Amino acid sequence: MKTYNIALIPGDGIGPEVIREGVKVANAAAAAEGFRLDYTHFPYGAEYYLKTGVVMPEGGFEELRQYDAIYFGAAGDPRVQPGVIEQQLLLAMRTELDQYINLRPARIWPGVESPVKGAERFDVQIVRENTEGFYVRTGAAFAAGAGENRLQAEISRGMYTCSIDADTSITNGDAYGLNVGLITYKGSERIARFAFETARRRGIGKVSCVTKRNAVPQMYSVWEDAFDAVRTDYPEIETEKINVDAAAMWLVKKPEAFGVILAPNLFGDILSDLAAGICGSLGFGASGNINPGGVSMFEPIHGSAPKYAGQNIANPVAAILAGALMLDQLGEHAAARRIETAVEQAMQAGDFRTHDMGGSDKTDDVGDAICARIV
Ligand code: IPM
Ligand code: MN
Repeated sequence: MKTYNIALIPGDGIGPEVIREGVKVANAAAAAEGFRLDYTHFPYGAEYYLKTGVVMPEGGFEELRQYDAIYFGAAGDPRVQPGVIEQQLLLAMRTELDQYINLRPARIWPGVESPVKGAERFDVQIVRENTEGFYVRTGAAFAAGAGENRLQAEISRGMYTCSIDADTSITNGDAYGLNVGLITYKGSERIARFAFETARRRGIGKVSCVTKRNAVPQMYSVWEDAFDAVRTDYPEIETEKINVDAAAMWLVKKPEAFGVILAPNLFGDILSDLAAGICGSLGFGASGNINPGGVSMFEPIHGSAPKYAGQNIANPVAAILAGALMLDQLGEHAAARRIETAVEQAMQAGDFRTHDMGGSDKTDDVGDAICARIV
């Protein structure tokens, strides 16, 4: 039987609970389509870090590269300073494995009311650049008495290498932080192409290119130039360039006007939570961190939500839909459709209402309800 090897990283907080349901549902879809998913569990996350002192062992990324896909829960735990696990595990996977596409579909599911008036037809594909912008993980906090106040770094992306050497002495207590934002033409071009291909494949008539060229022209002019070059290959698709602040406003005012939203890393992060809010809950947002020529990673967008951990109340639909994105990427389109249809039917029929939906159904009940609609 055809078997896919999946690296399973449940991670922190509610990650393990929602991933358990995602595995249950993905297995049901695989069984229905006649293939197998073979999981190898990796314990990475806060617990692992606190025990071993490292976020990832030596050779950890090399090992992950051997799998057909990575299925990931969440990163972040109140016992660890914010940013440590997130940067060295989640963001590191995205960059080390060159998962340059972050695909985040957002739609209103039946039975869920949007807090935004007139959003019934909201249905977008957010295409977030996933390896550049302010997420290149190069920066430093400078403070008096911190020893050497020096940032020396080299960022390489394909043919680009950029060196930074900042040496500062701070005597008066005026601490400051410096982070490097990087936008490359090649990086912008490949993600723009994916956005247009997504629009073409799904019959979506419009791509909105999110930017902030008016305030940060140095970075975003490169982003826009690449967009302009790519769009000439897709004459049938309408395009617009929109600053991220205006995009946030229009998403609330006229959500159905958007189709594919192409955004640089940080803006794409923010707009995906806005889109999830329009959809009524973070509990439905799935995402694929995709490297078309390598290993991709699939996760819910909601994060570890520590205050809900261990209570079996988290909504696992986002993780379950991330499983569907994973099967799609593996080429198992029929199995992916089965999951989406089962979620659609379960939502339509009102099979469950989790805490975030104002109900009291449990995490594992949701997985069971969706599985029941797959066979
Ligand atoms: C996301 C998350 C991450 C991000 C965090 C956890 C680093 O918010 O996947 O959207 O900012 O990308
Ligand atoms: Mn986010």
